[in-house]
Amino acid sequence: MTRNIAIDSKKNTGVRVCVLGAAGGIGQPLSLTLKMNPHVRELSLYDVSPHVPGVAADLSHIDTPAKVTWHTPETGGLKAALEGCDFVLIPAGIPRKPGMSRDDLFKINAGICAELAAGIAQYSASATVLVISNPVNSTVPVFAEVLKKHGVFNPRKLFGVTTLDSVRADTFIHEIKPDLPWGLIKVIGGHSGDTIVPLLSTVLGKEIDRVPNEKLHAVNHRVQYGGDEIIQAKKGAGSSTLSMAYAAYKFFTTVLNSYLGLTDKNVACTFINTEYDDDALDGVSELKDLVKKLTNRPDMKLKYFAMPCVFGPNGIERVEYECLETLDKTEVDMVNICCETLASNYSKGVDFVNGK
Ligand code: NAI
Repeated sequence: MTRNIAIDSKKNTGVRVCVLGAAGGIGQPLSLTLKMNPHVRELSLYDVSPHVPGVAADLSHIDTPAKVTWHTPETGGLKAALEGCDFVLIPAGIPRKPGMSRDDLFKINAGICAELAAGIAQYSASATVLVISNPVNSTVPVFAEVLKKHGVFNPRKLFGVTTLDSVRADTFIHEIKPDLPWGLIKVIGGHSGDTIVPLLSTVLGKEIDRVPNEKLHAVNHRVQYGGDEIIQAKKGAGSSTLSMAYAAYKFFTTVLNSYLGLTDKNVACTFINTEYDDDALDGVSELKDLVKKLTNRPDMKLKYFAMPCVFGPNGIERVEYECLETLDKTEVDMVNICCETLASNYSKGVDFVNGK
């Protein structure tokens, strides 16, 4: 993998990171974690909310090197927020209220995402982009289509953040199997209800036969619908924010440390564009062939899917398709159910941008 001298120098100088939606429920705690990272040189906070200067002022008193700047549409806009950024994290948009699915957010959040994607295309086209705004299954395609229209789309550098699903899977499996190692569960597919496919077999191994089926089913269901627990507990005041900020930061550090060449632990699950072949993304052709086989749909054109990916200085280096070779029957059934929903989710995002 070729390294870029400019990236090497960032080990010393640090990176510029922008949070779009920085004054929100996720944006604030996420910005706090980013301020604490020693490799962040500048934290650029952007929001349409009048609260963003206050958030920036508050964070700016923390005794870490990252300089905090703030921007709104009226003061500098996306240009000032995004120019020179290495990473852009996007928790902008409305969250769910009780009774809403992630899909219900689409109408409002797709427009916000399209506008922000156009800004990224114009002002920070080479940045790595982490999309948190829901519904991720549709908003990531919105980003990809807008970036494609501007001729700056790079499938190695656009990610839907699905880490909260892995975090939940790890937490919930430990409630029934406390002695397992942490951090190994892969969660694939999508980021909404039954498109979320936890691969419990990847961490349980042969142990899986000793766990009652109802317990495994309960863990899977709780990972798929765990977000609803938070929405109900918050009684209409928002969805997951603190656990989400933690999850986004966890994913960000994997991508950042790989970018700077600081770690060997560089695998994480994320929702990616899979339209291209191995020339664009190593392992993606194998992924598509395996999904075709598992779903018995040889004509399937899989355009998006969450998978464990290996990260390097230039973004994704390889899709770890091998995890699909050892699925148990429950997991194969779940992949089938996922694929039935996923295509309509991502088509919605593609059609939104292309005016269909
Ligand atoms: P929030 O409503 O507390 O914050 C959203 C922020 O976005 C607000 O400060 C708002 O002013 C800002 N915003 C709205 N339009 C904007 C624009 N055009 N440009 C810049 N900023 C804009 O919502 P919260 O709880 O922070 O959630 C944000 C998003 O993250 C939601 O779509 C939510 O569904 C999603 N989410 C994603 C998760 C994941 O696992 N990927 C988990 C939990 C939530």
